[in-house]
Amino acid sequence: MKILITGGAGFIGSHVVRLFVNKYPEYNIINLDSLTYAGNLENLKDIENAPNYAFERGDITNEKFIDELFAKHNFDGVIHLAAESHVDRSISDPNQFIMTNIVGTVNLLNAARKSWNQDLENKRFYHISTDEVYGSLGDEGLFTEETSYDPRSPYSASKASSDHLVRAYYHTYKLPIVISNCSNNYGPNQFPEKLIPLSINNIKNKRPIPVYGKGENIRDWLYVIDHANAIDLIFHQGRVGETYNIGGNNEWKNIDLIYTLCEIMDKKLGRAKGESAQLITFVKDRAGHDLRYAIDSSKIQKELGWKPSLQFAEGLEKTVDWYLNNEDWLNHILSGDYEKYYNQQYHKR
Ligand code: NAD
Ligand code: TYD
Repeated sequence: MKILITGGAGFIGSHVVRLFVNKYPEYNIINLDSLTYAGNLENLKDIENAPNYAFERGDITNEKFIDELFAKHNFDGVIHLAAESHVDRSISDPNQFIMTNIVGTVNLLNAARKSWNQDLENKRFYHISTDEVYGSLGDEGLFTEETSYDPRSPYSASKASSDHLVRAYYHTYKLPIVISNCSNNYGPNQFPEKLIPLSINNIKNKRPIPVYGKGENIRDWLYVIDHANAIDLIFHQGRVGETYNIGGNNEWKNIDLIYTLCEIMDKKLGRAKGESAQLITFVKDRAGHDLRYAIDSSKIQKELGWKPSLQFAEGLEKTVDWYLNNEDWLNHILSGDYEKYYNQQYHKR
């Protein structure tokens, strides 16, 4: 089996690539990534020489390149993770989100369709999406697979659009697709623009921890390796044409999460209790900030026997340890482009 994984140099993609390369030595895994600011081949150092792994640098918005790649490799399956993934960037500059998340996805769908022609037996196009397509919840309720789409940021609107196109290719052309929508991930290798790694890095360096609004927004957090395991199950056993919601059943108000992180960091860094929490700084709220996300994952639990393996306390501690033990990884990232973006984003608040 030859599998194309897109976005494999990113946060979640690198965990999926590692899992597949190690677990399925009989598969050939091709990682396609254009290495944007969020793509980092250091994430895959431990498996880069594996005989069943190859990296291709390329952009999914380049139709000709994508067609040639499919012609060269004859993939049996696609696991599509490449995306622009950060809400705040989508607010300041939406266009790249339209290009990568929508146009890039259509290029992959078209290439798969051409390459597989009528021979759809044992083929699979797996599109990885987010719970943000469902919009924002009030105090009650959970997102199910039947919840109507109601995206509210350029990021979530571009992901919603790509989900609709993937489903349209199933209904119109019988392309054997499957989709999953997952809640917020955390864990090693996440780019330090997202809440948890950004906070860990700022606490470590005694920089202010920027909390948007009053910190009352709620997210449902899942350890990245639990997401990778769900992707493995869905790729192999998910029913064609179906959608699966994946979530941690683990809702946290941002401010409570940050206090917990501060406590863990105080212990790890030998600081007095409460010292790191003094860095908490309330800043201007995100425009259109979704109040609450929470996932009902009973379908994947019942159909495929998946459940999260880690409690949040354990996952957070593992994550903090990873960032503290991988200073080089962080230092390589925290240069150039990222620093420029960071200053733009936070100096205007
Ligand atoms: P990420 O930003 O860490 O990684 C994205 C990867 O895609 C990077 O390696 C980047 O170089 C690559 N990429 C971007 N544009 C590309 C292009 N035009 N051509 C080729 N490669 C390109 O993202 P992530 O957090 O790992 O998210 C991966 C996927 O999972 C995304 O589709 C995202 O929408 C989805 N998702 C993320 C979360 C989360 O909490 N991070 C939750 C649910 C779903
Ligand atoms: P983020 O990690 O960007 O994920 P998403 O917006 O996709 O859920 O943000 C998680 C939550 O944390 C979200 O409610 C916004 C908030 N947040 C802050 O309060 N401060 C920050 O610096 C960041 C990046 C996010």
